[in-house]
Amino acid sequence: MTKDRKLIIAGNWKMNKTAAEAAALVAELKRDLAKVKEVDIVVCPPFTALSEVSKIILDSNIHLGAQNMSEHARGAYTGEISAEMLKEFSVRYVILGHSERRQYQKESDELVSKKAQAAHAAAIKPIVCVGEKLEEREGGLTEKILETQVRGSLAGLTKEQALETIVAYEPVWAIGTGRTATPEQAQSAHAFIRGLLAEIFGNEVAPKMRIQYGGSVKPNNARELMSQPDVDGALVGGASLEARSFCGIIFNSI
Ligand code: PGA
Repeated sequence: MTKDRKLIIAGNWKMNKTAAEAAALVAELKRDLAKVKEVDIVVCPPFTALSEVSKIILDSNIHLGAQNMSEHARGAYTGEISAEMLKEFSVRYVILGHSERRQYQKESDELVSKKAQAAHAAAIKPIVCVGEKLEEREGGLTEKILETQVRGSLAGLTKEQALETIVAYEPVWAIGTGRTATPEQAQSAHAFIRGLLAEIFGNEVAPKMRIQYGGSVKPNNARELMSQPDVDGALVGGASLEARSFCGIIFNSI
């Protein structure tokens, strides 16, 4: 399928894989995906595996992402990791505001926007996650929630930065549940988000921005989801932990 925007498929390994396990997985991916040119492929291992993984994917078509970073450049922030530290391992992307961090670490839209600005300052592309909870969808609040999150989390970005930002629509009820949004549900949320991006960044910028879908993406539902006009890739959790399923998603998307 052809789309103006290049698909971007990222694996979010979450708190899985030791450095040794990560190295083994990414070596398989490097071998199996070597010929893929149609998709930007990203893996996001835990911090402790970035060094190993970055060595293996050097000179490959796989890019490195992190799962979080600090909004601060340096200093007395125990346990935090800065953009500059990520750059040392050639990290090109960073997932920000994942619903698990919003839930367990109480990350707010305001914090996510600060992190996004810090990422851009270091030339790391943020993957900014938004998405409604089940009760919000059932209460008819999906668009309201998405509007608050998109406007809040992308606040302060310039048009140039917006073009280098990826938005990930991840309905919380679809994450790790095996319950995927239907292609129609995904398309309608993505079209709504693109409309918001046009209001915020203008009609020149919004059509060029990539919006990923995330939430129980598997090899058997990838094709239909990726063929929706406003779906420009996937953020994959569970199915990115094995080479076979992650590669299956990529091959079924092109
Ligand atoms: P899942 O996770 O694919 O396991 O649903 C997606 C995500 O949380 O990014």
